[in-house]
Amino acid sequence: MIYKRYTVTSALPYANGPIHIGHLAGVYVPADIYVRYLRSTDKDVVFIGGSDEHGVPITIKARQQGVTPQQIVDKYHGIIKESFKEFGISFDIYSRTSNQVHHETADDFFRNLYNKGEFVEKFSMQYYDEENKQFLADRYITGTCPHCGNDKAYGDQCEKCGTTLNATDLINPRSAISGNAPVMKETRHWFLPLDKYESFLRHWILDNHKEDWKTNVYGQCKSWLDQGLQPRAVTRDLDWGVKLPSEIEGAEGKVLYVWFDAPIGYISATKELTPEWEKYWKDKETKLVHFIGKDNIVFHCIIFPAMLKAEGSFILPDNVPANEFMNLEGDKISTSRNWAVWLHEYLTDFPSRQDELRYVLCANAPETKDNDFTWKDYQAKNNNELLAIFGNFVNRTLILTHKYYNGVVPELGEINENDKNTINEIHAFPQRIASSIENYRFREAINEMMNLARLGNKYLTENEPWKIFKTDENRVKTILNISLQICANLSILCEPFLPFTAEKLCKMLNINQQKWEFAGKTDLIKEAHQLSEVGFLFQKIEDAEIENQVQKLLDTKKANEEAAFVAKTAKTNIEYDDFAKIDLRVGTIIEAEKVPKTKKLLKLKIDTGIDQRTVVSGIAEFYEPENIIGQKVSILVNLAPKNLKGIESQGMILMAEDHDGKLCFVSPTEAVKSGSEIK
Ligand code: MF3
Ligand code: ZN
Repeated sequence: MIYKRYTVTSALPYANGPIHIGHLAGVYVPADIYVRYLRSTDKDVVFIGGSDEHGVPITIKARQQGVTPQQIVDKYHGIIKESFKEFGISFDIYSRTSNQVHHETADDFFRNLYNKGEFVEKFSMQYYDEENKQFLADRYITGTCPHCGNDKAYGDQCEKCGTTLNATDLINPRSAISGNAPVMKETRHWFLPLDKYESFLRHWILDNHKEDWKTNVYGQCKSWLDQGLQPRAVTRDLDWGVKLPSEIEGAEGKVLYVWFDAPIGYISATKELTPEWEKYWKDKETKLVHFIGKDNIVFHCIIFPAMLKAEGSFILPDNVPANEFMNLEGDKISTSRNWAVWLHEYLTDFPSRQDELRYVLCANAPETKDNDFTWKDYQAKNNNELLAIFGNFVNRTLILTHKYYNGVVPELGEINENDKNTINEIHAFPQRIASSIENYRFREAINEMMNLARLGNKYLTENEPWKIFKTDENRVKTILNISLQICANLSILCEPFLPFTAEKLCKMLNINQQKWEFAGKTDLIKEAHQLSEVGFLFQKIEDAEIENQVQKLLDTKKANEEAAFVAKTAKTNIEYDDFAKIDLRVGTIIEAEKVPKTKKLLKLKIDTGIDQRTVVSGIAEFYEPENIIGQKVSILVNLAPKNLKGIESQGMILMAEDHDGKLCFVSPTEAVKSGSEIK
C-alpha cells in the first residue's frame, strides 16, 4: 500500500516528572528518526506529541508535594517541552491534555459513543478509602499481582509482568493514600464492551499484522486476545480529568479514565496543529504509526483501536513499534526512586552534546529486549565510534583538502578499480538505511549509517593521499573528491539520527542540507566548490565527566537506601529486674591498636572509672586507632570476660548500627565523668 501521508504519534508522557533516557530510547529518539527520515523523503507527515496531564500518577504526585495537580502539570509540562526542544525532538506540535481543545475533543468522543449506545452502564462495587472518603481508582490502590506475585502492583496494571489488572484482581489490596485496607462501596460507571470487538481485533491483528508488527507487540496482543476481552470501565470517581457530560445521570464527580482521554490527545493535538486535521485521522491513505514503550501496548493495540472502531470514522494504526525498556547501570529506571539520567540535567551537564546521547540511545535501543545504559558505554561509544570513526573521517578529509587545495574541491580524475567499488558501495547505502528505518530497525539503520563513515576511513587508509601528494597529485585530487562525496552523503544520511551533526557538517562543507533522494550520488559537491572552515563534529568525553555522573548515581543509591530504611520491630518485653542486672557505665578510650591478622578488631584500653581494662571491639573498619583516643563510650562492665584472638576482653562497648552497617559510638553529649552509671 502506498500512503499519501503519515501521522506519527509518540506516547504522551505523564507530566509528573521530567523526561529521562528510558523515555528517549524507547519512544522519542526512534520516533524522531522515523519522522526526520520521512520529511527528508518529502512525505507529508505530522509528528504529534504532548503531555498526559490527567490520571492518578499526577494527583498522587500533587498530594505528595502538597500542591494542586494543575501546579504539577504546569511545572513538568514546561520542563518536558523545553528539554525535548533543546534535544531536537522535532514535533510538529507538543500539546497537553489539560487544554481546552483536548477537553472538548475528548468530551465529543465520549458523547458520540454514549449517544450511539456503545457503552454499557453498570453499578459495581469498588474499593473505597473510608478515611479519605475517596474511591480508589487505578494507582490509588496497590497490592499483590495475581500473575507474578509482585507486591507493588497497581489497581490498573502490574509493572513487573506488564499485565493489565482490575483493582479487584489484586491480592491484599491497600489504599495508596492511607495504607489502609479498603472497603467495598457501590458506584456507577460506563464500560466499553471490549468483548464486542474481540473478533474484529483478532482478525485485524492476528491475521493481518503477524508479519509486520514486532514480535513483542504481536505476542502481547495475542496473549490478551487469547485470554478473552472483558468490558472495561472508561470512567472514574475522581475530580481531576475530563469531566463527564453533566447532563448524563450520575455524571457528578466522575471523569474519563485517563487511558480513554490520553490517546484522544493525539487527535486533539492534530486539531490544534492544523484545520486539516481530519485527513490525518480519517483518510485511509494516511499511515498512522504509534511509537510507545512496552507498557503501553495493550492501550494502543487493543483499547484505543476498539474506541476508534466504535466511533467509526477513524483510521487504525498501521504499526505500533513498541520498544522494551532501557535500564540504567543494571537497575530499572524509576522516576520515584530518582534512578534515571534526566534529559534536562544531561543538557546542562553536556551542553551541545545532543547527538552523542541520541547516538548511544539509538545504537543501544531496546528494540527486541531490555537493554542497559551505562556511562562507561556512553563514553566508549562516543570516543571510539562517533569520534574515532565518523569525526575522524570527516576531519581527515577536510583538513587534507584545506592543506592541499585551500578548501577548494579538487577535480575527479581518472578512477581506478578501488574508486569504482567505493562509488558503487556509496550508491547502495541510502536504500539499505531507508529500508531499515521503514521497518523500524533503527539500530541496524544507525549502524549502517556508520558503515558509510567506516567505508570512508577504509578508503582513505587504503589510498593514503598524504603519501603520494608529491608524486601523484592527480590521484590525490580524485581521492579527496570521492572522500568529500562521502562526507556530503553522510550529511544527508546522518540527519535523521544526528541532526545537529548534519547541520555542522553542512556548514563545514558549505552546502545546504539536502533531501534523501540525493543521497547515493557521488557528485553532490561540485569541483571548485569552496568549503568553509573545519571544526570538530564531536568532542572527546573525559574520564572525569563520566566519574561525575557515576558519582551522582551512587549518591542517589545511597539516598534511596537511607529513605528505604525501616527500623526493626521491638523485641519482646522484659521486666525491669532483667534490665537492672545490666551494669552500663560511661568510659573513655585511653589506648587503641589493631588486633594483628584481623580486619575488624581493635584492642582498646578503657578507663571505666572503676578500673582500666581491655576490651576487644569489632569497629576497626570504621575507626583508625589514633583517632579515637579520648572518645567517650558506653560500656557494659559486668559482661563475663571472653577470649578473643588470644586477648581477654573484659566487657563490651555499645555501638549504634546505621542502616548501611556503619557502627557509631553511643556516648553522652555532655561532659560526664568516666564511671557514671547509665540507667
Ligand atoms: N502517559 C502514558 C505513559 O507514560 C502514555 C500515554 S500515551 C497515550 O505511560 F496514548 F495515552 F497518549
Ligand atoms: Zn505481575
